[in-house]
Amino acid sequence: MAIFDDPVQPSHPMDPVEHPLDLLLRDHEMVRKLADKYCNTDDKAVKKQAATQLVQAIHTHSRVEESVFYPGVRQIDAAMIGHFEQDHQKVDDLIAALQGMKLDEQQADRLMMELIPAVLHHIEQEEKEFFPKLERANMDMAPIGLQMQSFEANLIHMQAQAGIDMRR
Ligand SMILES: [Fe+2]
Ligand SMILES: [Fe+2]
Repeated sequence: MAIFDDPVQPSHPMDPVEHPLDLLLRDHEMVRKLADKYCNTDDKAVKKQAATQLVQAIHTHSRVEESVFYPGVRQIDAAMIGHFEQDHQKVDDLIAALQGMKLDEQQADRLMMELIPAVLHHIEQEEKEFFPKLERANMDMAPIGLQMQSFEANLIHMQAQAGIDMRR
């Protein structure tokens, strides 16, 4: 068993409660993929679907962060969390503009091309500047992980119901 000569520290299993950052990183990856898909297609239907999924993914992720994650970790760096909340506000304003108006394709695309770099920069900053700081603080993340999981499950449930209602 020489290959496994470090049994005390196995690579940690994917446990979103113990490691809620994994949950956020998974969302970030999804956002990056959808942004990529949006930017790299000329197919109007694919673009539209990517935009819809991207806005949805950002919306859910932002609510989880604002309602559970940011309040739970604010003491690590209150100024940085405040900055992140401003980023979210900016992104939400762009999403509201996208959803609230009758936009022609060019206008919607212009807003998307403003939204995407803003979001990518924001998640990059969370990952590079905040997550390492949080990991160094060695907080017990399990209570936040639990809350994040149930908040997200509730939100998705409510969104599914709203989706059903809208189709009636
Ligand atoms: Fe965020
Ligand atoms: Fe995030």
